[in-house]
Amino acid sequence: MNESEPDIGRRYLQQTRYSRAGLGEKRTSFPRAEPYKDYPSASQRVKLKPEISRQAADLWECLRVRRSQRQYRDRPLSLAELTDLVWAAQGVTLAGRHYLLRTAPSAGALYPVETYLAAYRVEGLDSGIWHLNIPNFELELISVGDFRRVLVEAGIGQNFLGTAAAAFIWTGILNRAMWKYRERAIRYLFLDAGHICQNLMLAATALGLGCCPVGAFFDEEVERLIGVDGHDEVALYLAAVGPL
Ligand SMILES: Cc1cc2nc3c(=O)[nH]c(=O)nc-3n(C[C@H](O)[C@H](O)[C@H](O)COP(=O)(O)O)c2cc1C
Repeated sequence: MNESEPDIGRRYLQQTRYSRAGLGEKRTSFPRAEPYKDYPSASQRVKLKPEISRQAADLWECLRVRRSQRQYRDRPLSLAELTDLVWAAQGVTLAGRHYLLRTAPSAGALYPVETYLAAYRVEGLDSGIWHLNIPNFELELISVGDFRRVLVEAGIGQNFLGTAAAAFIWTGILNRAMWKYRERAIRYLFLDAGHICQNLMLAATALGLGCCPVGAFFDEEVERLIGVDGHDEVALYLAAVGPL
């Protein structure tokens, strides 16, 4: 590689640094995207009730024993377990006038990360792709079917994506954050997703469930599976969950 011409990653980091000389390029502006996504024509909706099953767990012990788990038992997840996992990832904990503040922090409270679920073995949920509607805390069914094989293939053959009970799929809606932070927003998308996934992993640990984050996947195949365009909304991160 030509040393005078840094690679794209370094160039991105260099060009999106804040310094006392300025807060970066201001020439480009981006339209503001809607703060919430919903699927009015969803074929089913399942309201999640987060208070059903939450068990007490010691945070320090959860931090100590958390591991990425890739082997799961056959039993399905109960809807109560799934509800607690979804709540830990993206539950609303404070409703402000302009924001719905969540369990995980988000740069500028813009919440550009959307949560989808590929459910295979969850009691009370048909197999298919579901989307989390944040204001209603409900799951919206956006396509019905057993997508295990498709997800394993999209996950570059990582079989545990198909033996899990469900997989979380997180996307980023770029203009939800870029209208404010411009190109630097891309950094924040991944930071937001990391916070969300760690919440999920700690909750899984607290419930005695297994969870494994997945960053290796064919972006376009994941995006096709959930029906997003890969341009304004892009796949960021996945996580498999299942009983141990
Ligand atoms: C951003 C990120 C992407 C990851 N992608 C994968 C993956 O694609 N497949 C996988 O099996 N594990 C993946 N992992 C899990 C790591 O392999 C795991 O966190 C690491 O080995 C440390 O183990 P621990 O999580 O049990 O502490 C990923 C973890 C992170 C944070």
